[in-house]
Amino acid sequence: MNSKNTKLGNKKLFIKTWGCQMNDYDSRRMADILGPLGYKAVDSPVDADMVILNTCHIREKATDKVFSDLGRIRPHKEKNENMLIAVAGCVAQAEGEYILERAPYVDMVFGPQTYHELPEMVAKATNSYGDNRIVNTEFPAESKFDFLPEEHNSQGPAAFLSIQEGCDKFCTFCVVPYTRGGEYSRSINEILDEAKKLVDNGALEITLLGQNVNAFHGEGPDGKTWGLSQLIRKVAEIEGLERIRYTTSHPRDMDDDLIDVHGEIDKLMPFLHLPVQSGSDNILETMNRKHTGDHYRDIIAKLRKARPDLALSSDFIVGFPGETEENFEETMQLVRDIGFASAYSFKYSARPGTPGANMQNLVSDKIATERLARLQALINEQQRDFNKNSEGIVMPVLFDRKGKKPGQIQGRSPWNQSVYVQGNERLLDHIIDVEITEGYASSLTGTIKTEESVMQSAS
Ligand code: SAH
Ligand code: SF4
Ligand code: F3S
Repeated sequence: MNSKNTKLGNKKLFIKTWGCQMNDYDSRRMADILGPLGYKAVDSPVDADMVILNTCHIREKATDKVFSDLGRIRPHKEKNENMLIAVAGCVAQAEGEYILERAPYVDMVFGPQTYHELPEMVAKATNSYGDNRIVNTEFPAESKFDFLPEEHNSQGPAAFLSIQEGCDKFCTFCVVPYTRGGEYSRSINEILDEAKKLVDNGALEITLLGQNVNAFHGEGPDGKTWGLSQLIRKVAEIEGLERIRYTTSHPRDMDDDLIDVHGEIDKLMPFLHLPVQSGSDNILETMNRKHTGDHYRDIIAKLRKARPDLALSSDFIVGFPGETEENFEETMQLVRDIGFASAYSFKYSARPGTPGANMQNLVSDKIATERLARLQALINEQQRDFNKNSEGIVMPVLFDRKGKKPGQIQGRSPWNQSVYVQGNERLLDHIIDVEITEGYASSLTGTIKTEESVMQSAS
């Protein structure tokens, strides 16, 4: 063991993250809580003192992927016996003890609600390694958010803030209520404090995150329960913050006040990801979604009335048990009726422990694959049309990274499109007007309208 690495402040921490943005957020917070113990994030597991795999269990092969990654990390531990290997996230929560049994070189397995206990867990694992392996899949009474330290590092101009976690909806296909636990909302003051710090650290845009973000019901400064709409109005008052987004929502929690906020708050970007899953009322019922296709259409109509330029995105599952060709056609019709700017679509994957896993009338993989291809072709066509319609428009773009080509920078349009332009790196971390020249399948290119003036203010 290289003794240099174990000195306080000089330990290397490698975190690999799968899954949703909540997991990305959690990984940053784990790095924050391990910082005072001397761990610094690095980009490779080679020579790391601690490796954390922050895992996702949403679709099939999730567990297999974790074990194959563990297999790749194992030789590094053989060279460095003091290396701690940890499995966190939703696979850890779902599989627990089984991970330790199958991978004897893993030291720690802990679920998403236990990250604030990391210092104790690390102390326990390092003090008597070998016979003190840890499995922690509790849902502690206290919230991890109350005990995690403040975010230390800047997330850059486009930041993410978890405001809510867990889910009480129990859609019959989904593991989230089991892996993340019941719905929990942070308090308004806590969120506003964190939002202000993100802005002080350079954030121009904040995305409010939650597995079920519009079910948010946090304690307000007046002691009353506040909804997401009230929170957005408050966050919008933060000076220096230019853009607000939120994800992921459920149609059932899209109340009228939240719809109104889309017409009222300019900082709220005109883009909404609102998963519908299916266009068939029969399938929606067996999914336990508790909304119908028409209910979804009504919400979209109201949203578009409030904010006519709103662009929409969604999630779809095809091949859910019992899905007939007619049911699938209803999904295709809903997509045609709404018109999406982008969308994710997945083949149904039975998840152990969910009601869906016991359902009959399975759809064959061949049929599900073929339906997925048809749905994706339609969605891709709509996305291309949406991007084509952006040509000629001048729009503000938040530039946050270098592009793939030399001299290129990349950013996001208000409608969440990726925009590439030729431009000086000094324009990064700014919102700049761009005239869109070409709309492609999944991105836009454009030219900067105001480069000279921006360059002067940026320099
Ligand atoms: N909270 C969000 C999304 C949760 S998971 C919501 O309420 O919609 C993200 C997406 O993964 C889901 O919207 C769904 O489309 C997909 N998904 C979840 N479980 C799945 C499963 N068992 N098989 C296939 N796709 C699934
Ligand atoms: Fe899963 Fe449904 Fe909850 Fe979304 S609303 S996280 S799909 S159970
Ligand atoms: Fe995956 Fe867990 Fe997120 S299952 S999608 S990491 S909540």
